[in-house]
Parts: sequence; C-alpha cells; structure tokens
Amino acid sequence: MTTAEKCRCRVHDVFSDGTVEDRPGPWAIRRDFPLIDRRPLIYLDNAATTHKPSLVLDAEHDFNVFHNANAHAGGHRLAREATEILRDSRRAVAEFVGAAPDEIVFTKSATEALNLVARVVQDAGRVTGPDDEIVITELEHHANIIPWQMLAERTGAVLRRIPVSVRASDHGRLDLTGLDEAITPRTRIVALCHESNVCGTITSPAPLVARARAVGALTVLDACQSIAHMPVHLPSLDVDLAVFSGHKMYGPTGIGALWGRRGLLADLPPYLGGAHMEDAVTPRTTTYAPPPARFEAGTPMVAQALALAAACRYLQRLDRDALMAHESRLTEFTLRELRDVPGIRVIGPRTAELRGPVVSFTMRGRPAADVGANLDRAGIAVRTGDMSASPLCERFRAPELVRASYGIYTVEEEVAALVAALHDMAAGRHSTSRSAHDSS
Ligand code: ALA
Repeated sequence: MTTAEKCRCRVHDVFSDGTVEDRPGPWAIRRDFPLIDRRPLIYLDNAATTHKPSLVLDAEHDFNVFHNANAHAGGHRLAREATEILRDSRRAVAEFVGAAPDEIVFTKSATEALNLVARVVQDAGRVTGPDDEIVITELEHHANIIPWQMLAERTGAVLRRIPVSVRASDHGRLDLTGLDEAITPRTRIVALCHESNVCGTITSPAPLVARARAVGALTVLDACQSIAHMPVHLPSLDVDLAVFSGHKMYGPTGIGALWGRRGLLADLPPYLGGAHMEDAVTPRTTTYAPPPARFEAGTPMVAQALALAAACRYLQRLDRDALMAHESRLTEFTLRELRDVPGIRVIGPRTAELRGPVVSFTMRGRPAADVGANLDRAGIAVRTGDMSASPLCERFRAPELVRASYGIYTVEEEVAALVAALHDMAAGRHSTSRSAHDSS
C-alpha cells in the first residue's frame, strides 16, 4: 500500500461507520490519547481544554501531509479532495448535533461565533437602540458576556441578567422566579450557557426558550461545556442559535461552530467580507452566498474541520451514556470527599444531579494560585483564577477559585489523588512531586 493510499484509509476512518464492538471504558479510552498515555500527569483541567485522541491528531496531520489545498478554489485534484473533505466534515459535525449540514457554520472558536451573532443581529436590525434588551444569565463565561456588553455599548440596548441562586438548597442554579420580569416584550436576545464552566450547573433551556418565544426574542446557547459530556441534539433544545468549540470536545484548537436554524441564518447578514462568502461581486456591490458560506469568508480551516469531524466520530463510537454516568460518579465522589477536607468550600450544586463534571472550590487561608501550585508539584493539573467568569465568581464572593474538571478518560484514582493532596495541604504537609499514577 502506498503512503497516499494508507493516508486515504486514515482519513476514511473518520467518515466510516465503524463501531467499537467492545465499548471501551475510561481505562481503555486512555490508550487512545497519546499525551495521557505518555506523561505521568493527572490532568484535571478538561473544562479549559481536553486532550485529543489519535484519530483527531492523525486527521489533522494527514490532511496537511497528503491532501492540503484550498477548498472551493481551483479545479485540480487536491482542491477537489479538500472540498470533499470539508463537505464531509461539515456533514459529520452536523450529524453529531442532530443538524443539517447547511446549518453548521465553521468559525475560529465559539467565542468568534458569539461575536458573530452579536454583530449580525445588530446589522439585521434586531437590536438597534435603548428600547431593546439583551438578557444573559449570571452563570456566563466572559465569551457570553462581553460580546453582549459590546452590542449594548454600540446600540444603547439594555443588558440584563437572570440571577443565580447562592442559597444552599439550589446553589449555583438559575433563579427563575423573576423570569417574566427579566424577559419582557423589549427583549431581543436571550443568551445562556448549557453547562456552567464554574459550577457545572446544567441548565435546561426550556423555560427560558418558552418565555423568549412568547415575547419574540432569539435564544442563543453556549454549549461549549455540555457537548463534551452528554449527547446534545441542538434542534430538540429548541434554541435558535448555538455555539461550541472543537478543543473542549476532544477536537482541535482553531475551530468552533455556530449552529442556527436554516431560515434564521438565511435572514442574517454576513459578518466578515471576503472570498467564498460572496455570490456576485461588482466594483460597487456584492450579493452574498447562502449560509453557511455567507459566514465563512476566507480560506476555510479544512484540516481543523476534518479533525473536529474525527472528534465527533470518535465520541459517537463510544457509549456516551455510560461515560456520562461515569463522569457523574466522579463528580459525586469529589463532592462527597471534599466535605471531609478542612477549609474547602465548593461552589455550585451540592449533588451531581444536573451537574457536569466540574468542581470549583476555595480553600480557607490559601490563595487559589498557591493551591494550584501545590497540586502541580504533586503532578495534578487544575485551573485556578476567575475561570474567565469573574462576575459569577464575585457573586459567590470568591474571586479566585480552584477548579477540577473531568473528561471521558478521568479515573477515580486520579480524583482520589486530588483529594489526598488537598488533605495533605489542609494538614500542612507538603505535596511530593511524584505522580499519583506511580501508586495506582
Ligand atoms: N472556558 C475555559 C475555561 O473554563 C477557558 O477554562
């Protein structure tokens, strides 16, 4: 078999319907992730970015080595291959979220997708001035706050927030008691996250969507966290638009996606101008291609699209329900164990129910950075700081947090090592620099 044929097989792997007969559990899954297999590191920073399985790494590599050309441009063989790969990748990503291919717009990131939406709703005349309101929630990441603040600044529109509860009984969940006062006939946009990157809270969009629909507002869902942990069928969630990013779902960096209903996308004007988003160009005017091309000016990220498709295929071949249950058990285990660590205060829901595998906490008398540095010395990677969600952290009067977040390859031994290291710290013992895997 020639190198080129071998390569075609590897790209073909992405689009084949192969299923794994023996559905692997987390220990077997770890072998698909070269970085996890090679480095003795307990990686608990999956809400920031996940590792990538070989299928994803190979897909990006193989495109560049064997197929590289500009999709849509030129009539030569490589260009045709690149065009087909882009088309098939879009189809695979669309299928993963239950969408039609022309409802998937590739963007550089989910952040870019949110900025795109915030810009084009203004250009479409949907948000124009001080009589218009934009509603977000207190659970949002900066990427789902700042574009709306910028839209409000540009137009004079009013930005409102649905509060999060700080009561013990529903800590970290949205308080929807004032929903009808928050979302009013003036509301044009309602933007919310499906799963909080700080609290892990999973919010059902249904009540917000119902209220938004009743007043004629558009709903925008940030699915960046949820999509890595549960099957997400976007049309069933009934939102109008949704965004997600590749690197948080075992895919590559440099690509995200915007999903929108076909009719709505067709009603929205372009974001960036450039090649491939046009229909006809004259010296003075341009008419625009239909979506998704309308929103994809410039050379498409074909290698990244293929790798994102590979991540979708990879996840689809796993038993996602079983992995979701596994991640939930890890969360439950963490919440239970942390109760016994002196000085720990957990942020977010007290049980793993309707909660993603993200556990943020503070440690009395210890700056978050100090806790993170100690864990790092023990070979445990967590995120520390404001989680790019500073208004939410302020709401909990905890400007700096430590966050452990899990993925499909996280095992209980790793979480137990985290808990043990925190016990050591609480008792004033220094963390050793060996990896917890040494003992597992
Ligand atoms: N959203 C990413 C995180 O939560 C950056 O870490």
